[in-house]
Amino acid sequence: MSVTGGLDGATTNVTSRTAPTGAEVLTVAVIGDYGWTGWIPSPDKFCFDVLPRLQAAGITVPNEVVNDCDPGDKQYITNATALQMDTSAYVGQICAMKNCSAFLSVGDNFYDSGVDFTTSGLLRFQAAWVDMYTQGVFKYAPWYQCLGNHDIVPGQPGVDFQTKVAPMYDDRWYFNTSLYYNPYTKACHNDTQTQIDFLSNTFAASNATWKFLQMHHPYRSAATNETDLGPLIEIVIQHQGIVMNGHDHCMGHFFSNNTNFILSGAAGYPQAGDCNNGTAPGPYALYLGANNLTGE
Ligand SMILES: *[C@@H]1O[C@H](CO)[C@@H](O)[C@H](O)[C@H]1NC(C)=O
Ligand SMILES: *[C@@H]1O[C@H](CO)[C@@H](O)[C@H](O)[C@H]1NC(C)=O
Ligand SMILES: *[C@@H]1O[C@H](CO)[C@@H](O)[C@H](O)[C@H]1NC(C)=O
Ligand SMILES: *[C@@H]1O[C@H](CO)[C@@H](O)[C@H](O)[C@H]1NC(C)=O
Ligand SMILES: *[C@@H]1O[C@H](CO)[C@@H](O)[C@H](O)[C@H]1NC(C)=O
Ligand SMILES: *[C@@H]1O[C@H](CO)[C@@H](O)[C@H](O)[C@H]1NC(C)=O
Ligand SMILES: *[C@@H]1O[C@H](CO)[C@@H](O)[C@H](O)[C@H]1NC(C)=O
Ligand SMILES: *[C@@H]1O[C@H](CO)[C@@H](O)[C@H](O)[C@H]1NC(C)=O
Ligand SMILES: *[C@@H]1O[C@H](CO)[C@@H](O)[C@H](O)[C@H]1NC(C)=O
Repeated sequence: MSVTGGLDGATTNVTSRTAPTGAEVLTVAVIGDYGWTGWIPSPDKFCFDVLPRLQAAGITVPNEVVNDCDPGDKQYITNATALQMDTSAYVGQICAMKNCSAFLSVGDNFYDSGVDFTTSGLLRFQAAWVDMYTQGVFKYAPWYQCLGNHDIVPGQPGVDFQTKVAPMYDDRWYFNTSLYYNPYTKACHNDTQTQIDFLSNTFAASNATWKFLQMHHPYRSAATNETDLGPLIEIVIQHQGIVMNGHDHCMGHFFSNNTNFILSGAAGYPQAGDCNNGTAPGPYALYLGANNLTGE
């Protein structure tokens, strides 16, 4: 999709390839751990009765089928869908006030198991993203996407969907595929050095005032500090960048290693335990979700 008109009413054609520039203050919205709309959990009959018998019989059950039996997610589906809508409306209102130039996703774009490259995947993409984010600023602002652990559950077809199909389907969806050419789940640690080199070279070559590392997992969080991300964080520290991540379902702001870590979370359902587990959330974490009813 190409839309005429900018936030300031400029008559340029804004597409996801149009980098936001020029503002004295650059405001971006960070969203992650969402995309519940249209998810249909597996029936209890299958999850509690058939699945254990299949597993006992050594029959391979696809990852996404197992994932769609997650008891916590099944329990939360009604609330999570309502909260995604609530959060999208809230983010839209704040962005109208703040003149957001772009959205950054920190991954887990489609609960519960990403979107597969199937007709039902297309329907999910349409319902949970294309039709969800349509009003006001959402009409034209680009989304810089990233993958989370839920997005890679379907394997390569799911990665292909989000990195290659979605950008053609809706131009607001931007995904630079240069790091994702190979079978994702097996090869991803094989490519650690490629990712480190990419970040190091890109940060070094950029003269931008603000440099963000956008990723799904947290290096600093109250729930889990994923220290294997250290080599990427070292580059961020060296270039005085900022880390934006998701994964934990709460909003948080951590300051560590002389670096700011912004935890988005909470665009689906908030889980207080993720944020309130030893490390206090930072000063900007007013609520764990879109409103004080979903805080704690
Ligand atoms: C915007 O897109 C339309 C249709 O593709 C084209 O005719 C027009 O020249 C474009 N305008 C600018 C400013 O690029
Ligand atoms: C869903 O939300 C309702 C209303 O806020 C609440 O009573 C209920 O406990 C929530 N369910 C779950 C599973 O959190
Ligand atoms: C909104 O941000 C854009 C850059 O994305 C900038 O060009 C424009 O001047 C800003 N408008 C206002 C009212 O601040
Ligand atoms: C992806 O990023 C690289 C490095 O910044 C850039 O050279 C390339 O043009 C980008 N590709 C697309 C499709 O935007
Ligand atoms: C890992 O990288 C090596 C060397 O580039 C390659 O031969 C191998 O096939 C890769 N393994 C996977 C699982 O991609
Ligand atoms: C960054 O600044 C340096 C020094 O001013 C300049 O040589 C270089 O071309 C700039 N790089 C970009 C990508 O603008
Ligand atoms: C809380 O922290 C403890 C120890 O650090 C960990 O074992 C536990 O899994 C954490 N709980 C949550 C909800 O993340
Ligand atoms: C994560 O790291 C911070 C900073 O070092 C520390 O305060 C916090 O306790 C750590 N959290 C966990 C769960 O290990
Ligand atoms: C962050 O600080 C901790 C504690 O000082 C240190 O162990 C860790 O190596 C630092 N991380 C990075 C990426 O430099």
